[in-house]
Amino acid sequence: MSAAYHLPVLVDEVCEGLAPALRAAPGLPVVDCTLGGGGHAEAILGRLEAPRLLGLDRDPAAIEFASQRLAPFGDRFCATHAPFSTLAEVLADLGVGPVAAILADLGVSSHQLDRRERGFSFMGDAPLDMRMDTTRGPTAAEVLATIDAKALTRLLRELGEEPDADRIAKAIVATRPTTTRALAEVVENAMSARQRRQIGKRIHPATRTFQALRIHVNRELEELDRFLEDAPELLAIGGRLAVITFHSLEDRATKRRFAALARAPEPPRGLPIAAADLPQARFRIPEGFRQGRTAGPAELDANPRSRSARLRVLERAA
Ligand SMILES: C[S@@+](CC[C@H](N)C(=O)[O-])C[C@H]1O[C@@H](n2cnc3c(N)ncnc32)[C@H](O)[C@@H]1O
Repeated sequence: MSAAYHLPVLVDEVCEGLAPALRAAPGLPVVDCTLGGGGHAEAILGRLEAPRLLGLDRDPAAIEFASQRLAPFGDRFCATHAPFSTLAEVLADLGVGPVAAILADLGVSSHQLDRRERGFSFMGDAPLDMRMDTTRGPTAAEVLATIDAKALTRLLRELGEEPDADRIAKAIVATRPTTTRALAEVVENAMSARQRRQIGKRIHPATRTFQALRIHVNRELEELDRFLEDAPELLAIGGRLAVITFHSLEDRATKRRFAALARAPEPPRGLPIAAADLPQARFRIPEGFRQGRTAGPAELDANPRSRSARLRVLERAA
C-alpha cells in the first residue's frame, strides 16, 4: 500500500549519506521536508534509528498518509503541514534548535501524479489543478485564464525547456484550456512537425508544458532557493543536508549552492597568513558524494522514476 502511494528513490544512498550525521550529532532530530508517503522517513527512523523525526509536507494528503504509516514510531515522529521554504520558522515554532540532518526529496509523489483529480497528469481528464497544497494558491487553470502569450512563452521556455514555447503559448492563450486533456490536445496540435519528430515516442508532446506549469503553480524554484539559503544554517556541527533532484533546474541550483558553501572564503589580499590560519569553509561535500549519486542498475530496473534522480549531500564542518 505504501509503495502504491510512492516508491521512494535512493533509500540506501540517503541512509549512507545521513548516517555519519546521526553519529556526529547524537540525540538531535532529523527533518524530512518532503514526507510524501513516508518511505524515506520510515528508513531514517527504522534503519538509522533517528531519535526523532520531524516531517513536513505542503500536501495535506501526504501528511495524513505518512502520519498513519509512521504512527508505530509513537512520539519519535511528528508532522507539520507547511512548505519547506518556511523550515526555519517551523523549527523555531516547535522550539527545535540545531538538527542532525535534513532531507528534501523534490518534486511530486506518484500519488499526486496518479490521482486524476489532482490535475497533474495528461494521462486522464480532470480539472487543471496541479497544486501540491490543495488548501491555497491559484490552480493551473486559473493561471492559464489570465496569463499573456509573452509571459507564457517565457515560462514554457525557462521552466520546461520547451523548444516550441512560442507557438504552444499562442495556442494555449487562444483557447485557455481548463482541463488536463484539453491542454494536452492544444499542445499536441500546436507542436511543430519537426519537434514532434525529435521527441518521437520518448516523451508525450505535452510533458514539458505540464512540467513547466507545475513548477510555476507550486513556485518550486523559489521554494528551493529559500530552502537552500536557510537549511544549511539549521544543521548542527557534523550535521548533513541531503537533496534529491529530478531535473536540471533543481540540480543546477543545488549543486551551485553546495559548491559555494563548500568554498573557503578568500583570505585578505596582501597580508602574509600562515597556512594553518587560512579561512576554512564552514561546509564540505563528503567523500563519495562529490558528483552526487544516482540509482544503480537494480533500482533503475525496479523504479523508472529513479532514472532522473540525483542525490547531493552537504555537511556542516564548523
Ligand atoms: C517525491 S515526493 C517525496 C516522497 C517521500 N520521500 C517518500 O519517501 O515517500 C515529494 C513530496 O514533497 C512535497 N513537496 C514538494 N515541494 C514541497 C515544498 N516546497 N514544501 C513541502 N513539501 C513539498 C510534495 O507534496 C510531495 O509529497
